[in-house]
Amino acid sequence: MDLPAIIADIVAHAASREDRGTVASYIPELAKVDPGQFGIAVATADGRLIEGGDCATGFSIQSISKVFALTLALGKIGDQLWQRVGREPSGNAFNSIVQLEQEQGIPRNPFINAGAVVVADVNLGGHQPRVAIGEMLRFVRYLAGDDGIAINETVAASETATGFRNMALANYMRAFGNIHHPVDLVLGTYFHQCAIEMSCRQLALAGRYLMLDGRHPEGGRVVSSSRAKRINALMLTCGHYDASGDFAFRVGIPGKSGVGGGILAIVPGRASIAVWSPGLNENGNSQLGTLALEELAHRTGWSVF
Ligand code: DON
Repeated sequence: MDLPAIIADIVAHAASREDRGTVASYIPELAKVDPGQFGIAVATADGRLIEGGDCATGFSIQSISKVFALTLALGKIGDQLWQRVGREPSGNAFNSIVQLEQEQGIPRNPFINAGAVVVADVNLGGHQPRVAIGEMLRFVRYLAGDDGIAINETVAASETATGFRNMALANYMRAFGNIHHPVDLVLGTYFHQCAIEMSCRQLALAGRYLMLDGRHPEGGRVVSSSRAKRINALMLTCGHYDASGDFAFRVGIPGKSGVGGGILAIVPGRASIAVWSPGLNENGNSQLGTLALEELAHRTGWSVF
């Protein structure tokens, strides 16, 4: 299989597409990003890194951070997490509130916003937000082997000023007793983890532990084998919100999207893939990123099915 040629074709096809989706505007700072960009990076299990397009340009990872935050929270409290967050697809938008009333403030899964806010509450662990945020940054730097990864404070401030839905979700869950710290501290942690900036190259490298059955490529374990499998399972079933079924149907690879236009996709035993293009489809997932992964899965046979 000529992976560099496949990646070159995917970059060329992305460049020629007219319908690039719509850049997220509910976080004002994200609305300023140029929708003409597209990047891809593939880190393979045999140690290669194949890239194309704007693969070195930093973007806001947003909800992709929920994968790393979940990994940290499971490391802190293990399976106790599942008493506070479910493991089922929600069938609703990423920022929906409707199920929380019917299900006593227990979010359906850790990747919808409500679930990720509970995970941020766990990661706070009685500390100040800067401690939890510092831990998260150190973690993604260690995973990627890159100390250059940083938080875009302007993006974090932009969401802090406008994140009223998340404030509602967090307050609502606090009323059910499922948020233990003051809401502003929990959201401070959550908004900053979402505002981490990474390039496709950095993100593909950071995802390698999930393709390597939980091992760090430089040696040692990040998580156990069974935990890596479970995180991948959640990415497949819940990683694209109410479009998770369609993503599994079209791509067939565990994936986590973010409203910054990035997607991290994991082919267990084979590849960690990051794609990025800022324009989103109607479900809030990258339009060109999804098409690129569909083409990649088709040409490589990397669907897990
Ligand atoms: O909480 C929010 O709304 C954003 N910080 C993250 C949402 C997101 O990335 C949804 N993904 N497609």
